[in-house]
Amino acid sequence: MDRSAALYARARRAVASGVNSPIRHYDPYPFFAERARGGAVWDADGRRYVDLCGAYGAMLLGHRNAAVMAAVSAQLRRGTLYCMPTAAETELSELISRDYPSMRRVRLVNTGLEATMAAIRLARGHTGRTKVVKFDGCYHGAHDYALVRAGSGVAHYGLADSAGSLRAAARETRVARYNDGASLERAMGDDVAAVIIEPVMANMGVIPPRRGFLRRVARAARSHGALLIFDETVTGYRLGRGGAQGEYGVMPDITTLGKALGGGLPIAALGGRRDVMDSLAPAGPVYEASTFAGNPVSVAAATASVREVRRLGPKMYPRLERECAALAARVSDAASSRGLPHTVNRAASMFQVFFSASPVTDRDSAMASDRALFARLAAGLRSRGVFVPPSQFEAAFLCHAHTQADLSRVALAYEAAMGALAP
Ligand SMILES: Cc1ncc(COP(=O)(O)O)c(C=O)c1O
Repeated sequence: MDRSAALYARARRAVASGVNSPIRHYDPYPFFAERARGGAVWDADGRRYVDLCGAYGAMLLGHRNAAVMAAVSAQLRRGTLYCMPTAAETELSELISRDYPSMRRVRLVNTGLEATMAAIRLARGHTGRTKVVKFDGCYHGAHDYALVRAGSGVAHYGLADSAGSLRAAARETRVARYNDGASLERAMGDDVAAVIIEPVMANMGVIPPRRGFLRRVARAARSHGALLIFDETVTGYRLGRGGAQGEYGVMPDITTLGKALGGGLPIAALGGRRDVMDSLAPAGPVYEASTFAGNPVSVAAATASVREVRRLGPKMYPRLERECAALAARVSDAASSRGLPHTVNRAASMFQVFFSASPVTDRDSAMASDRALFARLAAGLRSRGVFVPPSQFEAAFLCHAHTQADLSRVALAYEAAMGALAP
């Protein structure tokens, strides 16, 4: 028995379901991570994997980026938590506002969940309306406001929502089809506080918006007096320094950031129009609070990470885009040459393969792909030293630290793993 198997057996007795987030489980048991560096992670048995999960997109710069590590070490010597304002929080917020001009004022929180939950409450509090429109398959974190027809682990485990989440919250939520403007129009009304969207859907695999779709979403929100929330938890600092709003040229009223913002430490942010953000307490009536918000260690990591992204970005983003396009093409060729019907979707440095002959443009088309085959592909990749998220409804991410050797290993692993799937 390898060490991961033994560790999992032990975890099952102490840790609920054996894992601290559902998507970390896969059959027969997940490998247990021991350390990580650059673009790789090592398991408890000392095996090295090229890491295409990248902490679900958080590790844009790779594991243990030197600048991030130095900033964290320096902060550890000055203290880990004050619960008093710091100059560093202001500096990070200023950097964010410069990269995301729509985020005129920023509030720092700890997770994507907190950011979208606060953004939705803020939209309701600011507009005095209650309905929220979301898109089928978009995932915005594990809270009641957003656990309606969500992607990610919710779709993976075949749950429509979550037991225990409030029916009343679900009743206040209308669901539109992604990439379908007419379906959005049907969901809209003058009772809608906010439209919330992942500008590139990254929780049903990767599903980019059709040309003009995000503009249409913005128009629909505006014409009904609703606020537009871009959930850029995944796309922020990932598609480019200015996220999806920078790439697609559509400005939301409220934005949420997380994952790649923090360089691997827990931090997220919401920000938006000045008048909207001023509705947050204590200036305004919408309550949002957290003991750990703006904690100095995460702020130090995020500030260092954002500075690194600003320094490296002009070369890093085009290179990641080229590398990811080349890899996606090889993955597609590998599937074609083995007679496997498939679609590969990509946006910037993230991609996903679906075993489906039809284009994947929304939740329904993603659900129609052969997920059992995907699970076999992910297992085949693991056995060849490449770790991809174990679910069809996540994305594979390239990072700045992947070497050319890592990338060729990944391409060869996909080719061999596809070969083993061939009918
Ligand atoms: C688009 C999106 N929003 C929100 C979240 C929730 O973030 P967190 O897991 O940090 O709570 C996620 C997490 O995967 C996400 O992908």
